[in-house]
Amino acid sequence: MELKIEVKVGDVAESRDEAVVVNLFKGVKRPGGATGAVDKATDGAISKLIDSGDFQGKFKEVAVLPAAGRLSAKRIMIIGLGEKEKFTIDRVREVSGKAALQARETGLKSYSTIVHGAGIGGFNLDEATEAMVEGALLALYRYRRYKTDDEGKNDPRVMTIVTTERTRVGAMQRAVESGVIVASAGNMVRDLVNMPGNDKPPQKLAEIALKAAKESGFKCKVLDEKQMMDIGMGGVMAVGKGSDEPPRFLVLEYKGARRGKPIVLVGKGITFDTGGISLKPQDSPLGPIWEMRHDMAGMATVLATIGAAARLKLPLDIIALAPLAENMPSGHAQRPGDVLKMYGGKTVEVLSTDAEGRLILADALAYAEKLKPQAIVDVATLTGTAVYALGKRVTPVMGNDSRLIRRLERAGVDTGERVWELPMFEEYVEQIKSDLADLKNIGGRSAGCITAGMFLRQFIGKTPWAHLDIAGTVWIHGGPESIDKTYMPKGPSGVPARLLISMLRSWGRTA
Ligand code: BES
Ligand code: ZN
Ligand code: ZN
Repeated sequence: MELKIEVKVGDVAESRDEAVVVNLFKGVKRPGGATGAVDKATDGAISKLIDSGDFQGKFKEVAVLPAAGRLSAKRIMIIGLGEKEKFTIDRVREVSGKAALQARETGLKSYSTIVHGAGIGGFNLDEATEAMVEGALLALYRYRRYKTDDEGKNDPRVMTIVTTERTRVGAMQRAVESGVIVASAGNMVRDLVNMPGNDKPPQKLAEIALKAAKESGFKCKVLDEKQMMDIGMGGVMAVGKGSDEPPRFLVLEYKGARRGKPIVLVGKGITFDTGGISLKPQDSPLGPIWEMRHDMAGMATVLATIGAAARLKLPLDIIALAPLAENMPSGHAQRPGDVLKMYGGKTVEVLSTDAEGRLILADALAYAEKLKPQAIVDVATLTGTAVYALGKRVTPVMGNDSRLIRRLERAGVDTGERVWELPMFEEYVEQIKSDLADLKNIGGRSAGCITAGMFLRQFIGKTPWAHLDIAGTVWIHGGPESIDKTYMPKGPSGVPARLLISMLRSWGRTA
């Protein structure tokens, strides 16, 4: 990660960086605290700006002023925090993201900043610090792997977080470390989702996971097609067989508790979804076919999450499962009408080869159940209907356990990666009953997001389980429908890695 982040004790007005960053709540006429100190040191430069009506403190409003030689820094950047009553920890991420982007635009190599949201914002110094780190690192994200120019050389190199509270520095430094881990997880998901389909066939993703396992400190086992065949993973095998790239199944394991039952995360890993024989059109109202390289975002999420859990040394046992396959049409592809025998023995009639996610997840969920976990959470770009149901700002969540869903909802609010529950009424199962087999893999035009969830539920026993359908939230397209946060640049969002990490971090503390 490019931006270096430091914590320093002292007076921000004495910083020698290219800018000092201070803030203002909306409606405040005479700034106090560190903003007030910078104002005094500059003969009221900020007060004058407020008095002239040129700065009101609106949320994400920004102004850059010359410090005119009265500070050691060259410039003052002032950021609006918005209305005090509306202030949240996610707004801390956003204003920090805004400052970082403004630094990029102005070409500032270094800046010192006060902690937004501590003091009158009401947050602890360390939680606000962590949010600031996340906001800056996520906002500056760019995918440069296939670019041969050197754009990005203008990016800020160092952000120094300044506090006057000497006793809190240790806690703030630890907050910086966790903030870097969490933001890197989100950015890792973005990197993997951005990677084109030709560079991430199943075996390649397995190698990436093996490398991540070594670096972060968890175990990684890769099942090949023969091992999957032997244990009867009919779903992954059928979806994978149309492609020349053989399917894989990842079993990742982090042991931080060494007793009790594991939490199992499951991620859909379709490295490219053409639809198979039920071929997708080149363009659909939901986006062009090339975006279907994002169909492994669930896998990327669980990989990044278990890595972050290991680096944060969470006191939990976590297992992440990811079925990996490329959904291609060919002479050896599965056909509409085929019947499959899934892991565990249930049979499925395949009416659309484009509803492939639930086929590979069925094997993975049945496998998860055999691990006797305390909870299972799966993540998948599963249905276009998720977008019609809740749009692109909120992730639909379904499941069989309200406590688990409440945990996800709470983590969603804290991280800004919100979820909303859809019903799993038993009657929906009628839509996926097959005349020929136990189940069919499509449930008709109505309630598609829910019937997909209902299908997955058939492979879950009594274990608390939740399913996140990220088809709408996986990609930021811009425009009025999309998540519009400063730290969410266009492209893959990284959702819901931070959400899962947050849920795991508070696992023992909340019921
Ligand atoms: N990967 C897609 C879902 C998707 C669509 C994600 C658009 C993001 C944007 C999934 O495999 C799929 O094709 N689902 C079908 C299911 C249908 C055939 C029942 C869909 O949603 O159209
Ligand atoms: Zn599909
Ligand atoms: Zn798919």
